[in-house]
Amino acid sequence: SQRKEIDDTLATFALSPTQLQEVKAKMRVELERGLKKDSHPTASVKMLPTYVYRTPDGTERGKYLALDLGGTNFRVLVVKIQMLSYFHICLNKILLFQLFDLIVQCISDFLDYMGMKNTRLPLGFTFSFPCNQTGIDKGDLVSWTKGFKATDCEGYDVVDMLREAIKRRNEFDLDIVAIVNDTVGTMMTCAYEDPKCQIGLIAGTGSNVCYMEEMNNIEFVEGDEGQMCVNTEWGGFGENDNTEDIRTRYDREVDGGSLNPGKQRFEKMTSGMYLGEIVRQILIDLTKRGLLFRGRITERLKTKGIFETKFLSQIESDRLALLQVRSILQSLGLDSTCDDSIIVKEVCGAVSRRAAQLCGAGMAAVVDKIRENRGLDHLEITVGVDGTLYKLHPHFSTILKDTVRELAPNCKVDFILSEDGSGKGAALITAVIDKYLYAMR
Ligand code: BG6
Ligand code: GLC
Repeated sequence: SQRKEIDDTLATFALSPTQLQEVKAKMRVELERGLKKDSHPTASVKMLPTYVYRTPDGTERGKYLALDLGGTNFRVLVVKIQMLSYFHICLNKILLFQLFDLIVQCISDFLDYMGMKNTRLPLGFTFSFPCNQTGIDKGDLVSWTKGFKATDCEGYDVVDMLREAIKRRNEFDLDIVAIVNDTVGTMMTCAYEDPKCQIGLIAGTGSNVCYMEEMNNIEFVEGDEGQMCVNTEWGGFGENDNTEDIRTRYDREVDGGSLNPGKQRFEKMTSGMYLGEIVRQILIDLTKRGLLFRGRITERLKTKGIFETKFLSQIESDRLALLQVRSILQSLGLDSTCDDSIIVKEVCGAVSRRAAQLCGAGMAAVVDKIRENRGLDHLEITVGVDGTLYKLHPHFSTILKDTVRELAPNCKVDFILSEDGSGKGAALITAVIDKYLYAMR
């Protein structure tokens, strides 16, 4: 029957407890592989060093400029620890041909607005893409992710590119002190409030985690004392085919139609940028099979990117009557019957539930690793979180937390939301380094 066909399709997104345990175990293997000298260069989970050695201790002071190039927005902020002012522009509204010139133009406008053109502020740059760091202010872009594509950047030092763009404009001077992944900025922002926060999670346009690792486990960085924050770039998990058993044909279609086929496979199953695309692929298939939308595939349904995170979140909201689901679909240009709207809601639910569970399985691997690092039977730890998927989706955070609890029973994991984005965290890092540089002068 039709019902059975739909159920069978959605069943491919249901992960059993055993499958989730397997994901956790495989993630653990990849975390370890990424830390070892031999396997690091080819690891799917890149485990990039950040040169951030500790979380804030509350003594940080001063006024800093922070840039935050995230998933949905680009922000320029002046952070006066504790206060901040900022402005932002929406990234999907701009063209990224000359990204760095555009960034510098935004800084210029902002400094004008704040009346601060002549104060040479130290700057922390949150750059939410994988960078091979060899120092706190040195990072070569490994590759763009999340649908970004600016020409001639990969392999180049992001800080150099920003410095050159500032020089080209020749209007003001800035000391670029730190380049920071958004996970790291988020962890630092949250750690300022809660010293137990030693993990940063982004569940937004992209998906990624950082955490405090023991230096003696990071084989490719000199030194054995203390800790360093590692940017896992777990979005790449699965690039070595070890998640093929849980990927569906819809995941493969989304991957095939993306800007970076074969890459970021875990991210493509767990983050806001792709969940809507997976939903769309399923809907197209169900429609082709005559199970939905009266079998008619409209141009709208063929349009990439129509199901943004905010729509998925609205469709799945429990408070919403089916009539309202239909009106959301209508606003997306999709004519639905009442039955259609029920099916669409089920599809969204299956896709986002799997995303949250996978994210939870990955997090379980991280917290258990930290627990074992410290030789503890029981670990209490806090995760600082940011991202539109986590913030807007009605069920994602609950399912994520439930999964972590089930898969890492020896850890008590709290999640706190970053209220100030990750720019404040970049400023905190800048504050520590600035103090250090000042002492050296
Ligand atoms: C923001 C952070 O609040 O969240 C950014 O300040 C981060 O650094 C972003 O990249 C992630 O969310 P999204 O949904 O915009 O990708
Ligand atoms: C992508 C980026 C990563 C970032 C994440 C969340 O996975 O590669 O650096 O942290 O998105 O924004």
